[in-house]
Amino acid sequence: MHLTKEQEKMLNGEYGEVVAKSMELLVRVGEAYGAERLVSISHAHVSGISYSNIGRYGLEFILDFYKRGGKARVFTTVNPGCIDYCGLSQVVENKFLEEQSKIDMALHGMGFRPVYTCIPYYYRAPLIDEHLAWGESSAVIFANSVYGARTNREGGPVALASSITGYTYYAGLHILENRKCSLLLIIPPLPSSIPIGAVGLWIGDNIKEIPCIRIWDERDLYEYKILLSSMAASGSHGLGVIEGVTPRGTYLEELEDKVYVESKMLEPYLGEDIQRGSEILGYIGCPHLHPEELIKLLRLLRRRGKVRRGRLLATIPREYVNTFRDIVLELRARGVDIACGTCPVVSTIRRQYDIVVTNSGKAAFYLRRIHGLKVKLASLEEVVDLVAR
Ligand code: F3S
Repeated sequence: MHLTKEQEKMLNGEYGEVVAKSMELLVRVGEAYGAERLVSISHAHVSGISYSNIGRYGLEFILDFYKRGGKARVFTTVNPGCIDYCGLSQVVENKFLEEQSKIDMALHGMGFRPVYTCIPYYYRAPLIDEHLAWGESSAVIFANSVYGARTNREGGPVALASSITGYTYYAGLHILENRKCSLLLIIPPLPSSIPIGAVGLWIGDNIKEIPCIRIWDERDLYEYKILLSSMAASGSHGLGVIEGVTPRGTYLEELEDKVYVESKMLEPYLGEDIQRGSEILGYIGCPHLHPEELIKLLRLLRRRGKVRRGRLLATIPREYVNTFRDIVLELRARGVDIACGTCPVVSTIRRQYDIVVTNSGKAAFYLRRIHGLKVKLASLEEVVDLVAR
């Protein structure tokens, strides 16, 4: 790989041991992907920081970087941890408080912004063609597909190394030629019983190419967030071109085939039926809620009164509890269980429920796999209706 003089000095240890170690990691990974050079980045987003997911080995890896003097060279945000940072939730268990606190202390010490969220684009919106090094598949696919930025799906250690060096390897989705969509997916109007998360799960499961997605229904940005995160969960996509949304010029289009996605293809992704008398956990906020979604949730609840059946969990970035305090308080008064800076996928929950009902295909995918829970997919309105009727 060709390195600039500065990068060579970094690799040779002239900028310190931790920078050398980070550079070595980037060069090795880059060479494995056939990268001929590195590229500077302006924002790193570090995933894999939840103790519940990374365990002792991961904790020691992060602590090691910190103790050796690791410091962010570029703006760096962090993914959710495994505790509720506001201490409001009755659903999320703060089982690994001590271990998570050690990780958090190291992240703060390295100068990372402690947003604890999977929607880092809310804190710093990427620019078109801007190179990033982001972990968190849902954020990566949103950055590439909606903002037209350029990032691969990085693992936590690579994003960490990119933060410390300010570089990533120039390969994959950083290169325009690799951002070519070759399959047109046509999504006709769907019945209300089929939420957009099911479409995402089907795409991830069945489509290997970068798709060009033509959706006939009018959908808002938050539904695209659900669609994209769901396809990145059940598949390995880092980019899905959405007609009319993805900025032109940030991808190439050579359509060779087209597929109509019909309702019956999506039915297997809708999950389990709710049995009479089941104890329900309604869950929204995967990926974390944008403030507009928080307001939408509040409006829905104002119409229906309050949560009366089971629980309704909403997960949000840590800082909302200060910035949107009044909304958070009213939602809590209406019976919503708010967890900040975490989610049930990267944490543990206090007790089992008979079934989780969620609007997120990604949450459905992982809650089944990781926690072995029964899950049903529904629209946001249906989730609220179920618990607030
Ligand atoms: Fe975010 Fe957790 Fe979903 S990290 S994308 S809310 S699985």
